[in-house]
Amino acid sequence: MDEKLNQLEKEINEALNSARTAEGLEELRIKYIGRKGALTEILKNIKNVPSQDRPRVGERVNLLKRALEEKIKEKMQAAGISGSETKDHVDFSLPGSKYEIGSRHPLTQIIDEICDIFLGFGFRIAEGPEIETEYYNFTALNIPDEHPSREDFHTFFLDVPPEKHEKHGKEYKVLLRSQTSTGQIRVMEKEKPPLQVIIPGKVYRPDATDASHSFMFHQVEGLMVDKDIKFSDLKGVLDLFCKSMFGKSVKTRFRPHYFPFTEPSAEVDVSCIICGGSGCSVCGKKGWLEILGAGMVNPKVFEAVEYQPEDWTGFAFGMGVERIAMLKWGINDIRIFYENDLRFLKQF
Ligand code: DAH
Repeated sequence: MDEKLNQLEKEINEALNSARTAEGLEELRIKYIGRKGALTEILKNIKNVPSQDRPRVGERVNLLKRALEEKIKEKMQAAGISGSETKDHVDFSLPGSKYEIGSRHPLTQIIDEICDIFLGFGFRIAEGPEIETEYYNFTALNIPDEHPSREDFHTFFLDVPPEKHEKHGKEYKVLLRSQTSTGQIRVMEKEKPPLQVIIPGKVYRPDATDASHSFMFHQVEGLMVDKDIKFSDLKGVLDLFCKSMFGKSVKTRFRPHYFPFTEPSAEVDVSCIICGGSGCSVCGKKGWLEILGAGMVNPKVFEAVEYQPEDWTGFAFGMGVERIAMLKWGINDIRIFYENDLRFLKQF
């Protein structure tokens, strides 16, 4: 038996020295200490060893087993995480380990694209909290108390005690912001004009989910405040934005609209990026696609942030990221953005 063990030990050491790969080491493990391995077999049949030799043989086999386990572990570690080569004997002819390279989510790509365009215009990026109060989401934006968007049906109110506003000490209900326009107030409360910011982020509305509605989606808000900002500045900036985003040939049109926080306000359309304006199913045969809400900052909003409305003018705008992404890529169901389906995501 001793001779057999000497022989095995020699064999194991040789095999260990020549093992180069994780597979080779695994083979070795199976051969000697696997369920049917040579050392395992000796232990299984220890009853056949003469009783006076049993303790010695058992101990030696166990030592050999442990030493082998230890050496395999060391070699695996030395070979690095991939475990495919030992440190001392790197075989450069073997293919390298493959890394899965991820990519940015399509919505992140659109947000980055929008932000890049405005950064080029001299805007900077600001962010605000998603958990907000009624003050930032409505009151400071000149949305009256009786406005329907303030009802539970249109806003996610949180079941937490109301929060005091730092300055006026009044209490306001806490909610998930339903628009990134909240960011306008946050920026203006902290900073004095002139300023040019864009505020990307998530917004929440308790809409029933369907192909075009989600309880969470993304918006990008924009705000510029300075001396003598005019509606023509707003038109120029947004026209250039639409051309940068959708292509030089798109036309823009401004339709009068109403928003409480801007006066005058407009909805901005681009000529349909699918049919070029001749009319198709995407634009509902109209030739135009609505992309943005915009307008000149309402003096009431300036009052809320303690800017002198006589001194400053500005414009603001807001757009939906999902809508732009859906138009750009011809996606007809908003839900697909949130499902983490790699078959979809890998296309971008
Ligand atoms: N907050 C508006 C919305 O969620 C979008 C918007 C419209 C933002 C006009 C603005 C604006 O800043 O001037 O529908």
